[in-house]
Amino acid sequence: MNRKVKKGFLWGGANAAYQCEGGWNEDGKGESNWDQFCHSEKNVKGITGDVSADFYHHYKEDIRLFAEGGQNTYRFSISWPRILPDRSRKVNEKGVRFYKNVLAECRKYGIVPNVTLLHYDIPSWLEDEGGYRNPKFAEEFAFYARTVFEQFGEEIPLYVTINEITHNTFCSYMQGNYPPNVHSTQAVCEVGYNLVMAHAKAVIEFRKFNFRNSQIGMVHTTNSVQILKDTPEYQIAKRRCDLFKNKWVTDPAILGKFPDDLRPLLEESGIDTSFVKQEDLDLLAQTHVDFLGQNCYTRTLARPYREEDGETNYYPNNVGTGQKRLEGYVVKNWFTSDFDPDTPKNAWGREEYPKTVYDMLMGIKADYGDIPVYITENGCARYEAPDENGQLDDQERIDFMKKYLDWLVKAENDGCNVKGYYAWSSTDCYSWINGYEKRYGLIYVDFNDPARKRTPKKSYYWFKEYINEHTEK
Ligand code: BG6
Repeated sequence: MNRKVKKGFLWGGANAAYQCEGGWNEDGKGESNWDQFCHSEKNVKGITGDVSADFYHHYKEDIRLFAEGGQNTYRFSISWPRILPDRSRKVNEKGVRFYKNVLAECRKYGIVPNVTLLHYDIPSWLEDEGGYRNPKFAEEFAFYARTVFEQFGEEIPLYVTINEITHNTFCSYMQGNYPPNVHSTQAVCEVGYNLVMAHAKAVIEFRKFNFRNSQIGMVHTTNSVQILKDTPEYQIAKRRCDLFKNKWVTDPAILGKFPDDLRPLLEESGIDTSFVKQEDLDLLAQTHVDFLGQNCYTRTLARPYREEDGETNYYPNNVGTGQKRLEGYVVKNWFTSDFDPDTPKNAWGREEYPKTVYDMLMGIKADYGDIPVYITENGCARYEAPDENGQLDDQERIDFMKKYLDWLVKAENDGCNVKGYYAWSSTDCYSWINGYEKRYGLIYVDFNDPARKRTPKKSYYWFKEYINEHTEK
């Protein structure tokens, strides 16, 4: 007999504004940093999210398809410059109307909206003024957050402040392949700090509304950190990797404080931490999320740093077939990524390790108790094309998802407070600098077709059955 999760568990898909909406300058939307970057010569491939899956015009069809696929929730993000197009802070009513329409469509089908305020796309005017590195960033974000709370109130039951502070910071300021394409460890620390504070200030704004039927959380991309050898050196590398990858974001969000060992270690590594302000730390202590979103794709293996590993850098999973190294990190004198030769890797150098969700949820329980957790993203990337009959047979995705979801259901049965799962992605979409070749969707989108025809993949139908068979009635 199948294991089952409790009745009311949320099952759905996720997407993000810049990745699926298109309509990049329609109805008064302002320019975002990603519009700016993609339209510049820094975008060597020349591929943009200008139209993408055109969710802006297809949202009714998509939400109907989600509901017909047995899904009862949908995670999406709001484009900041669609709501507040320029520095005047004047609200774009047409932008608000679009998201009101999306929410109404969700309501029509009993789909619970899970809405992220910031998924990598900030207004370009703010980017021009230093973006995440501007010490005023947190204030500006809090203003935008308050505007969203005012406009949508309890129409949104699950609010998320920011998506993946770590990955965004590392790609934008360490690897430097996301805008604004900077490579500086000092900047990583400043930006990371500003984003944690931006999150905290948005939570403070949220609490002022005293909503009864809405909650607020943060989405983090956690990988459970593991080691292949149990020695004191490996244990130190594991702790440092966990600090670097997870704890500087999840501790403030859940516990209201940065880890005690973080600042001394940063200073030992030559980071000037004078950007840390006592008033910020006091404010942080008053903010605690209601839930945690975990984008949980894989695990991170850590080993001790060695001189020959070289300088600090991030080698992300967004380079594509032929990339010379597997996804991983070098953080000088802290740790370096390790690799297990026996686990499979995808074409973008990422380890495929479905048990990660079980390990991660058990880790959250051990570190943070019973905080509610949603798996806000998980997925399987592939190059894909329809067969001669126009069908999408993505059996490999199904095989991966089955193993992953079985571990998830087991974790729930073993006492983890996990309350939902979102497949990345609801439909195929723009995979940042991977463009459109790297597909994750349960629904295929023909990007060569001006009408952006949708075709549910085999995994979409399989997911519907899985939900039905693994949820208590
Ligand atoms: C997460 C992001 O990091 O992973 C998504 O929240 C992203 O926006 C997804 O698309 C998959 O990553 P990628 O780079 O393969 O598209």
